Amino acid sequence: MSSPYILTSSILSADFACLGEQITEAERSGVDWIHVDVMDGHFVPNLTMGPFIVETCRRITHLPIDAHLMVQSPEHLLADFAHAGANVLYVHIETCPNIHCTLLTIKELGCKAGVVLNPGTPANVLESVLSLVDLVLVMTVNPGYSGQVFRPETVSKITQIRRALDEVNPNAMIAVDGGITEETLPLTLQAGAQVFVAATAIFKNPAGITAGVKALRARFPGG
Ligand code: DX5
Ligand code: ZN
Repeated sequence: MSSPYILTSSILSADFACLGEQITEAERSGVDWIHVDVMDGHFVPNLTMGPFIVETCRRITHLPIDAHLMVQSPEHLLADFAHAGANVLYVHIETCPNIHCTLLTIKELGCKAGVVLNPGTPANVLESVLSLVDLVLVMTVNPGYSGQVFRPETVSKITQIRRALDEVNPNAMIAVDGGITEETLPLTLQAGAQVFVAATAIFKNPAGITAGVKALRARFPGG
């Protein structure tokens, strides 16, 4: 039986001089998805990648690609990311005054729809869209950079959202992103997370990418 848990490797910490090799090694080691962090220098201070990187990843791997849009007005970019080959599009609730419409647009484009909450955003703002989402991504650091320290105060929000989803949309999954390591992954898993984003713990693991993936997967029940 396949694992109900998903490990997605954020290429933000990959070596872009050999991105193809790094993604291929991550895939061979057992990651499930490739996570692309899109930052606009406005919603978050950092500036990173556009749809062309998704298109590049699409040529390297057949794994699903989840694109995390940390940008203002993400609705203008959804079609470009979908056409580039993204399978999951996450938008931040903090950037979407018309979140209902934005989530429907993502689904119309044939992608899974994810909504993201920053550490400072309470879970109850999701109430009216819980039935629409495929994923809720709970940020476990403030977005902008890889390599930050996990914020344990975000764990109770995972539990709260899992309970709320179980009532209206039990198939929706909770993802966590930021500071996920061998030590922190189990805390989020026990709280109800199923999808785990990791950049540093995979691409900057001192023992290498393969060792990083195996160490994280070993924390999955039965892993
Ligand atoms: C942070 C990004 C994360 C980041 C995770 O804003 O959304 O996906 O790459 O990096 P680590 O795993 O190093 O915390
Ligand atoms: Zn991310």
